[in-house]
Amino acid sequence: MTEQSILHTPTTIHTMALKNRMAVAPMTRTSASADGLATDDMARYYARFARGGYALVITEGTYPDLLHSQGYLYQPGIASTAQADAWRKVVDAVHAEGGKIVMQLMHAGALSQGNHWRGDNIAPSAVQPVGTQMGFYRGEGPYPFPREMTRDEIGQVKEAFATAAGHARAAGFDGVEIHGANGYLLDQFLTSYTNERTDQYGGSTLNRVRLLVEVGQAVRRQVGDDFTVGMRISQGKVNDYEHKWAGAEDDAKCIFESLAGAGLDYLHTTEYDAAAPAFGDGESLAALAARYGRLPVIANGQLGEYDKAAALVERGDAAVVTLGKTALANPDWPQRVARAAPIAEFDYALLQPLANIKESELAA
Ligand SMILES: Cc1cc2nc3c(=O)[nH]c(=O)nc-3n(C[C@H](O)[C@H](O)[C@H](O)COP(=O)(O)O)c2cc1C
Repeated sequence: MTEQSILHTPTTIHTMALKNRMAVAPMTRTSASADGLATDDMARYYARFARGGYALVITEGTYPDLLHSQGYLYQPGIASTAQADAWRKVVDAVHAEGGKIVMQLMHAGALSQGNHWRGDNIAPSAVQPVGTQMGFYRGEGPYPFPREMTRDEIGQVKEAFATAAGHARAAGFDGVEIHGANGYLLDQFLTSYTNERTDQYGGSTLNRVRLLVEVGQAVRRQVGDDFTVGMRISQGKVNDYEHKWAGAEDDAKCIFESLAGAGLDYLHTTEYDAAAPAFGDGESLAALAARYGRLPVIANGQLGEYDKAAALVERGDAAVVTLGKTALANPDWPQRVARAAPIAEFDYALLQPLANIKESELAA
């Protein structure tokens, strides 16, 4: 492996010049203050990845309003100026190590299992989520029953994403990523079994992707053209790993072509295995996003093996790869692969009993 290998070549996503193709996937670590302020430990934790050679760090999902968006206790927010200001030290720490940092904006919707601000959950429809709450984020038992969002609340959510993106820009972030994946609010709109609406946000795939498109457009209007805006998309969910879009490639075409008109600069696809066919024996979700979305794709899922990640980029299916668990175990993975040093196995004990940042992750 040499520094000339494809993952070590630079690329640009809209306004973001990246020194290589290796990025850290968004990972919720519930280590903020109770009222959602980013901490000094978070700055040290995120800076460590930039120091280890990752060109880009995508933050954990961060909530955009002080209403229903928070999903987990001790999750950070960017709804208020106080929350936005608290992120500056994180941004500065990553920049000081030569990395770029994008904030992921996340509305938990029906999957909220801990909210400092509100007690009830909202969702496209009053459908109780499948699965159970996550213990390592302080949850227990079934998810509560959400109530159906009003049209006014849909408007408020769009505004919240836009305002939060403005805060992120003001705090110095290099971009924002709208969380449209993994079972959270926007994905609840996209998913047929959690969206039973009969208005223009429910029914056909085109209707179910509408809110994602409108959120993208609202964020773009807020931040202007010279700021990077992406969206994360998945089939699987934290509470339903194996979900597949019922319309298979027709759905992929409709979703990614719709998102091509949403003012986005990149699509971030996540699958259990980014290189596996999205449906049957066809192309990966990343390849389908590149084909139909016609935007740079960031791919995620089991890419902590150098040759596999490099092949995805070589084929043109992805411009950048993100690593989740591999990055937690190897905060210096880009440097390790460059010098062919051993790669550490991820140990789930790191996230037990809680998924919060551990002392060992703050080391120099
Ligand atoms: C502790 C933990 C927290 C996560 N939190 C988020 C999150 O906030 N937002 C998100 O989009 N994905 C989140 N994910 C999913 C990861 O971004 C990634 O998709 C997943 O770990 C699969 O990638 P990997 O095979 O490289 O680990 C989280 C994953 C882990 C392990």
